[in-house]
Amino acid sequence: MLDDARGSARGEIAGAESLPALEEIRVRLLGKQGSITALLKTLGAMSPEERQVQGPAIHSLREAVTAAIADRKAALEAAALEARLATERLDMTLPVASARQGSVHPVSQVMDELAEIFADLGFAVATGPEIEDDWHNFTALNIPETHPARAMHDTFYFPDDMAIDGKKMLLRTHTSPVQIRTMTNQSPPIRIIAPGRVYRSDSDATHTPMFHQIEGLVIDRDITLGHLKWTLETFLKAFFERDDVVLRMRPSYFPFTEPSAEVDVGWSMEKGRRVVGGCEGWMEVLGSGMVHSRVIANMGLDPDEWQGFAFGCGIDRLAMLKYGMDDLRAFFDGDIRWLKHYGFRALDVPTLSGGVGA
Ligand code: DAH
Repeated sequence: MLDDARGSARGEIAGAESLPALEEIRVRLLGKQGSITALLKTLGAMSPEERQVQGPAIHSLREAVTAAIADRKAALEAAALEARLATERLDMTLPVASARQGSVHPVSQVMDELAEIFADLGFAVATGPEIEDDWHNFTALNIPETHPARAMHDTFYFPDDMAIDGKKMLLRTHTSPVQIRTMTNQSPPIRIIAPGRVYRSDSDATHTPMFHQIEGLVIDRDITLGHLKWTLETFLKAFFERDDVVLRMRPSYFPFTEPSAEVDVGWSMEKGRRVVGGCEGWMEVLGSGMVHSRVIANMGLDPDEWQGFAFGCGIDRLAMLKYGMDDLRAFFDGDIRWLKHYGFRALDVPTLSGGVGA
């Protein structure tokens, strides 16, 4: 009878096709309620003579079954590993996957577009430090210490003991100090744009503590408001890639320009969205004016000989208007889904011939 049990257990174990099936057999034979366990329990009720015969036979059955299960388990595990290795095999001769690895941020893209547009008009790109002194950021731009415009800029100042050469240091609040740096390093005629980061202590849906501006400066002889208007019109038409961009110049005040004008562009509704072009309504896009004679004199130039115009504009806002984003804060969140949606491919290089919108 034990020989029969041994034979059928062997057959079952050899036929187990999976680890769960094998486990089920193990429990049925060797588990607490298992048939071989039940045989072992019968030993207690046997006479000593009978037990001497049956004991070793039942134990050897149990050992044989245990060993057979262990062998089968090892075989099934080896087969499972083989199968997994086969499916996970990498073909090293396949070409590299062309997955998209990142994108150009809309702010960088717009800066490239602006550089391209203004390069075509003969402007060079100038830069200046983001950590400025208050002379370049304010005083030289005709904003003396007591001027109310200083309070309006929500400036991040460095502590007094970090002053350099007696000048208080700050994070620049606009790109206008690059005007001063360019005029001290270079003699006229000057035509530059200066894109870059600026900082103000302000934060809501349309303001972030760091944002981007672009400054424009032209210093030459016989420069008039007409040159300013033509330049801005040409720039905005090229940037928005529409001929129906309409400008409106409103008299305004900036300490470093006289006269000063704020410039609005006309918008119209297209498919439920406000887009630049036409003039159903107006929105402000930049500040500008003729460089104040005092600023020109501060730079050691004769204001009777040299005149110029300047303008300053928020780059993030230009990007929002052109590409249809409505929350400025998303620009600086680094959310990969936003970047994937609004980002540009590395090879979308803006060119005037190919379209600066790419
Ligand atoms: N710096 C000004 C601002 O941040 C913008 C500006 C206005 C720049 C008029 C200019 C200008 O060059 O002429 O608000």
